Amino acid sequence: MKTKIVRMKEDEIDREQIKAAADILKKGGLVAFPTETVYGLGGNAFDPQASEKIYAAKGRPSDNPLIVHIARKSDLYRVAKNVPDEAAKLAEELWPGPLTMVLEKTEDLPKETTGGLDTVAVRCPSERIARALIEEAGGFIAAPSANLSGKPSTTKGEHVIRDMDGRIDMILCAEDCEIGLESTIVDLTVDPPAVLRPGYYSADRIKEVIKKEVLSEKGMTDPNAAPKAPGMKYRHYAPKAELVLVKGRKEEVHQTINALCEQAKMKDFKAAVICSQETEDLYHCDRIFTVGSIEDEEMIARRLYDVLRQIDDTDTQIIYSEAFETPILGGAIMNRMKKAAGGRIISAKGEI
Ligand code: TXA
Ligand code: MG
Repeated sequence: MKTKIVRMKEDEIDREQIKAAADILKKGGLVAFPTETVYGLGGNAFDPQASEKIYAAKGRPSDNPLIVHIARKSDLYRVAKNVPDEAAKLAEELWPGPLTMVLEKTEDLPKETTGGLDTVAVRCPSERIARALIEEAGGFIAAPSANLSGKPSTTKGEHVIRDMDGRIDMILCAEDCEIGLESTIVDLTVDPPAVLRPGYYSADRIKEVIKKEVLSEKGMTDPNAAPKAPGMKYRHYAPKAELVLVKGRKEEVHQTINALCEQAKMKDFKAAVICSQETEDLYHCDRIFTVGSIEDEEMIARRLYDVLRQIDDTDTQIIYSEAFETPILGGAIMNRMKKAAGGRIISAKGEI
């Protein structure tokens, strides 16, 4: 398939191209587009065949439901029913923005879009190109993140081209995504509501808006429970090289990582380090990738997937990374890093 690649800026929207993209969606085709979190891979949410095409383009299992993107808050009621007051409050306060709500789905919405579930995940993004496209296409775009299944999400147009060129009809490229991590997902079909995936908004922020208890991801880790967000059961955000997270006090972390890099070198293993700007000079490894200043957690969130993808472009076999447990976004950043590491976390207290 020939993929049309279109570039535009968020504050210089090309109406002609938006119209062309919307026409593709209305005819059942697929268009990747920017959002404030990560790029999305969109199809018409009411067209079951479009959803099937999305699963095929991503190489994603079809029991993993898609998020329905809307541009007008009131459109929520076309795809969701029995919407509780808390959801209305969250929509009022945090939409448009990086929040996805899981609600009971209406009968009209095809099951293909929700991976066979009776619930639907809905998000109203703030990014202007996304909003223009959703409106022009009729109001409802089903979209997962625009990456091949199992790869880190895409936060730059170039990432999307890399993964999706030849697999979909059009790619709308804009500036890099502002947030860089996927939206916070809150399940409002349960009481108390539960955060299924942390993001830019923490469980505390959700709590503040709805003024009631919210289960955070940490409070829900019953290993025997079926995953509530089906996507959580798949290996995610995975770089090609093995990723190991090293936690602990600053001076112990760099010493441990240097020792591990030394060991890797002796075994002829190609190692890389992910660290902050403040510590990069402390490492002796040949390949050092910095995510930015530890004081700027928004920058770390924005750059994380790009760094993982940059390392993917090299022949690195093992990555040792600092843990970025920053005050507000640390929960979301570490959630992604732990998944990318497949649970490989070590403590820097000499236990190498
Ligand atoms: O920021 C985002 O949310 C981005 C942009 C494009 O909007 N989208 C995104 O979609 O991250 P995706 O498909 O990569 O992740 C959606 C997650 C999956 O883990 C999926 O299982 C979960 O949402 N999900 C979707 N519908 C659900 C539902 N009805 N119940 C529970 N989880 C659901
Ligand atoms: Mg995804």
